[in-house]
Amino acid sequence: MPDWMPWKHEKRRALRTLKDLIERHLQNRLKLARDAWPDDLLTRLLESREDASAFSLQNVRDECMRVFLAGHETTAATLVWWAWCLASNPEAQRVARGELHRVPQGSAPAVETLPAELDYLAQTIKETLRRYPVAPLLISRRTIRAIQLGEWTLPARTLFMIPVHLMHHDPRWFLDPEVFRPERFAPDAPEVPRGAYIAFGAGPRVCLGQHLAMTAMTVIAAMLLQRFVLSVPEGSAPPRPVLNVTLRPDQPMHLAITRADAAIA
Ligand code: HEM
Repeated sequence: MPDWMPWKHEKRRALRTLKDLIERHLQNRLKLARDAWPDDLLTRLLESREDASAFSLQNVRDECMRVFLAGHETTAATLVWWAWCLASNPEAQRVARGELHRVPQGSAPAVETLPAELDYLAQTIKETLRRYPVAPLLISRRTIRAIQLGEWTLPARTLFMIPVHLMHHDPRWFLDPEVFRPERFAPDAPEVPRGAYIAFGAGPRVCLGQHLAMTAMTVIAAMLLQRFVLSVPEGSAPPRPVLNVTLRPDQPMHLAITRADAAIA
């Protein structure tokens, strides 16, 4: 239904809020002297306007909106699941924390520390995305002509979705699929068949932000583990994933955190 339908006022209001937010950021940046622009994504988008390509201010707005929607919620939701996975798997958390001595204490990991130096930590995030692929229904397609998929024939114009969550829990590719095992993604682990792990999609429409997302999540995860030990409060049940745009816990997640000062010497 088009957005101007009377009962869609909530959506219109939400869109206005988002657009205003982005406009405020944009205008604040444009008000600043050019050499005071920080080196961030917005600056890079604005600078790309000076290329020969006709990248308009409206394009910058649209890109901001896309990054905000595609990039913010997915990354945040994954970190929530990651915190749960590490809290409920203390051994994996211990090993991940053990890597952090490579990062100067109290500082954020620098770009050269990533991802080579924090390999296991990155594996914990990839394994989190296997168990809880936060964008499990984004991957939909419509056939432009009839195609044969195994024993199935999909006529032209069939709309279908790839069941990422199911694929990630298929024991043919992931032994003991319910077990959190970051080592599945170790460099020397048996290779996962192409297409069996598609947390970021695959093919021409693969996630444009996957490397940015992995970098951001690894930095945040490292900074969290530097400071805190995560654990599951006694008696709490594992959260149930529900689809609410992204895959989220059905209840607010409560974890116990204690200072990690003593944990990394
Ligand atoms: C944990 C984080 C993220 C996950 C799990 C994720 C997952 C996905 C998935 C499954 C798709 C759909 C691919 C398809 O339809 O085949 C997608 C597309 C996309 N993602 Fe992400 N994403 C994440 C973070 C980000 C970030 C941080 C950005 C940008 C800053 C981003 C930008 C995009 C864009 C632009 C597309 C559309 C690509 C296209 O259609 O050409 N994503 N992502």
